[in-house]
Amino acid sequence: MFKDLWKRRVKLVEENLAEELRLTKSLDENLMRAMEYSLMAGGKRLRPILLMAAADAINGKGEKYLQVACALEMIHTYSLIHDDLPAMDNDDYRRGKLTNHKVFGEAMAILAGDALLTLAFEVVLRQKNVPTGILFSVLNEISKAAGVAGMVGGQVIDLRSEGVQVDLTTLKLMHMGKTGALFRAAIRCGALLAQAPDKKLDALTIYAENFGLAFQITDDILDVEGDAQILGKPTGSDIKNNKSTYVTLTSLADAKKLAQNAVDDALTALENFGSEADFLRELVQYLIDRKK
Ligand code: IPE
Ligand code: IPE
Ligand code: MG
Ligand code: MG
Ligand code: MG
Repeated sequence: MFKDLWKRRVKLVEENLAEELRLTKSLDENLMRAMEYSLMAGGKRLRPILLMAAADAINGKGEKYLQVACALEMIHTYSLIHDDLPAMDNDDYRRGKLTNHKVFGEAMAILAGDALLTLAFEVVLRQKNVPTGILFSVLNEISKAAGVAGMVGGQVIDLRSEGVQVDLTTLKLMHMGKTGALFRAAIRCGALLAQAPDKKLDALTIYAENFGLAFQITDDILDVEGDAQILGKPTGSDIKNNKSTYVTLTSLADAKKLAQNAVDDALTALENFGSEADFLRELVQYLIDRKK
């Protein structure tokens, strides 16, 4: 049931991503090809899946919010294209394919990322059957999560922490920013779109923050002991770049414990939900055992 629903929704998301690209007018075909190359390369589509699951936990209508869900995937994909650039992590593979800049060149990869980021906001505005006031709050969530107080801010801490010893507080802040912020926005947007009462929105926010933390800790672990073939991206990237990660700062065993703690806290946050939050429960538990 859990895996089936996930698969069905990935298909829905991918069909809609293709449709949103089709609806987009561009001045340059090559730019569209570069955007499509990374956006349609697969990936777990976790952020859209989370948005839908959060909405389900409130009103059971997760699939109604496909445009906002896809907008988050566009922002995520842009962050990956830029993350892989030579000036950042300098990686050659992503989602099982050569990275964007390896195929289209650095300049086009930068611009394809920029274009996906801005297209995301256009796509939020394509969302149908949602009152304007709610879309406004969704835009507020997404713009803050993607920017200086969220993903971009976290990426800057990540770069600043290369080759230096940082403390656990800084590391947590970095993870909450570079990875956690978009997960948090996904969950909060799902809840806001479904018009969640404040208490439920707060509980889901705590779930999301712990989900994001557990997710990035396992990403750090997989960089050390994962299989590049399965991951679709290189392992050893963090070591190559002298990154500060949970593994370098603690140990593999401690990082695993900390990830488990975050998963437990995420589950506790869902205490007052019934079976409508079962998908969210299964999703956070999957993080610990994930291989990709
Ligand atoms: C990878 O994200 C980048 C991080 C935020 C750690 P995902 O693991 O969600 O990547 P895809 O979307 O499945 O490729
Ligand atoms: C990147 O973190 C997070 C973002 C892209 C915002 P990582 O650099 O650890 O992600 P991977 O391991 O390359 O996917
Ligand atoms: Mg990085
Ligand atoms: Mg990287
Ligand atoms: Mg990583």
